[in-house]
Amino acid sequence: MANPFDLVLFGGGGDLALRKLIPALYRAHMEGSLEEGCRILPVCRRQEDANQYLDTAQDALKKHLRDGEYSESVWKAFSQLLRPVALDIAVPDEQWDQLADILGADEERGRLFYLAIPPAVFGPCCENLSLKGLINERSRVVVEKPLGYNAQTSDEINSKIASYFPEKDIFRIDHYLGKETVQNLLALRFSNVLFEHLWDASTIDHIQITIAETVGLEGRAGFYDETGALRDMVQNHLLQLLCLIAMESPNRMCAKNIRAEKIKVLEALRPLVGESVDKNVVRGQYVAGGLGTQLVPGYLEELEAAGSNTETFVAIRAHIDNWRWAGVPFYLRTGKRMEKRCAEIVIQYKKVSHRVYDESAGQIIPNRLVIRLQPEESIKLVLMAKKMDSLTTELQPAELNLTLSDTYDSFRSDAYKRLMLDAAANNSALFIHRDEVAAAWAWVDPVIDYWRETNNQPHLYRAGSWGPQAANELLDRDGRHWFNPQ
Ligand code: BG6
Repeated sequence: MANPFDLVLFGGGGDLALRKLIPALYRAHMEGSLEEGCRILPVCRRQEDANQYLDTAQDALKKHLRDGEYSESVWKAFSQLLRPVALDIAVPDEQWDQLADILGADEERGRLFYLAIPPAVFGPCCENLSLKGLINERSRVVVEKPLGYNAQTSDEINSKIASYFPEKDIFRIDHYLGKETVQNLLALRFSNVLFEHLWDASTIDHIQITIAETVGLEGRAGFYDETGALRDMVQNHLLQLLCLIAMESPNRMCAKNIRAEKIKVLEALRPLVGESVDKNVVRGQYVAGGLGTQLVPGYLEELEAAGSNTETFVAIRAHIDNWRWAGVPFYLRTGKRMEKRCAEIVIQYKKVSHRVYDESAGQIIPNRLVIRLQPEESIKLVLMAKKMDSLTTELQPAELNLTLSDTYDSFRSDAYKRLMLDAAANNSALFIHRDEVAAAWAWVDPVIDYWRETNNQPHLYRAGSWGPQAANELLDRDGRHWFNPQ
C-alpha cells in the first residue's frame, strides 16, 4: 500500500478523469489500497465546475463503474477524499495559492501531479507548478499519450517536462501495461521453464498480435482524424506488447532492467522505409456495415467530412533483426469497428521436424499458444493428441485452456488503478521511459512520412469485418493466415 499522498488531478472534469481515473481511485479506496490521509484534488477550470464536482464525480461513478461496484456508503467515504480546486492551468494567479495552501508544507507526503490535459498545456502547467514552489523532493508527474505527434513533437514535450522534473519522477502511462494479463505475459515467460526454451526462431514460425475494437470514433473525431491508428495504437500499445513478447529476460524485474531490454527490441525492429512500407504495411478505413444486428456508419460519415484518408486499421509485417528472432515475422494488426472486441497474441510454432505417423493419422497441426488479453483473460495451448475411442492412430487437435478470470477475481482488475498506485509508491517498472518513446517514434515516423509523400489511400473494409482484404493478402503471400479471435 502507498503511503498517504496527494493526487492533484489536472483536467479533473475531463473525459479521461471521469471515465477512467475517478472510477479507478474509487476502486482503490473500496479495496483499502488508499491509506488513511490520501487526498485527491481534481482541478477544474471554472469555479462552478469545482463547486459541482462531487455531483459530477458521483454521476460518473454510477455510469462507469461495473455492476455492483457502486454503493452509497463507499461513495460517502470516498467523497471525503475529494478536494476540488478551481484554477486556470496557464495563468499563475492567486488561484494557485489556494492549491498551495491545501498541499501545505508537509515534505513527507507524496505528491502526484496527474496531467489529464492536452499536451499543449503540459509546459505551462509544469512551469506554474515550479513557479509556485509546488514541486518538492517527493513530487512525481504522471502523463499519458498522446505524447506528441511524431518523434520531434514528442521530444519537445518530453524536454519541456524534463525542465521541471527529473526522468525518475516522470511516469508515462501506457494503460496496456497496467492490464493484469499483460503483466502475466512476463510471468508466463520468465517464471516457467516450459516456454522460455521454446521461445525463439528455432521453434516459432511466426507471431500475431491483434488488438481489435468494435467502437468507432466515440466522439473523438477531431483528435482521431489527426492521429490515425498507427499513432493511436501501434506506436504505443502494440509495440509495448511486441516488446514484452520479444525481449530478453531482464536481470531483475525492475524498471531499469525492463526498459533496457525493451529498448533493445525497438532498436532491432527492421526499419520500414520507402517502398518496404507498401510491401509490409496495410492501411485501412471502415465503411458502413453491420456489427451484430446493429448497422453502423462508415468512418467518413461518422466524421461528417468527406475526403479524409486517415487509417482506422493497420496491419504490419515486422521483423526483429536479432539472434533470437531472425526470420520470424511478427504480424501486428489493430482496427476500429472490427467484428469483435479482442486483444490476442498468437504464438505459432513450427511443424514437427519429422513425421513418424503414416497418412492415416491425418494432418499434424503445429502447436499454437494463444494468449487472450481481453475481453476475457485466458491462455490456450493447442496440442495434437490421439483421438480417443479409436482403434486407429488418428490424431486431432486438443486444447489446454486456462481461463484466468476463473482463478482470479477480475472484478478488482483496473489498469489505471494499478498504475496510479504504482506511481504513488514510486514503482516505475510498468511505465515508459523517454528513450522507449523516442525509439517507437523512430520506427513509426518513416511509415507516416511515406504515406504522406505518396498520398497513400487506405483500403476500405466493411464495419464488422476483420479488416481489408489486403491484410489477408499480406499473410497469404507468406503462406500464412490470420487467426481471427473466436
Ligand atoms: C487508447 C486509444 O489508447 O486505447 C483508443 O486512444 C482505444 O482509441 C483505447 O480505443 C483502447 O483501449 P482498451 O483498453 O479499451 O483496449
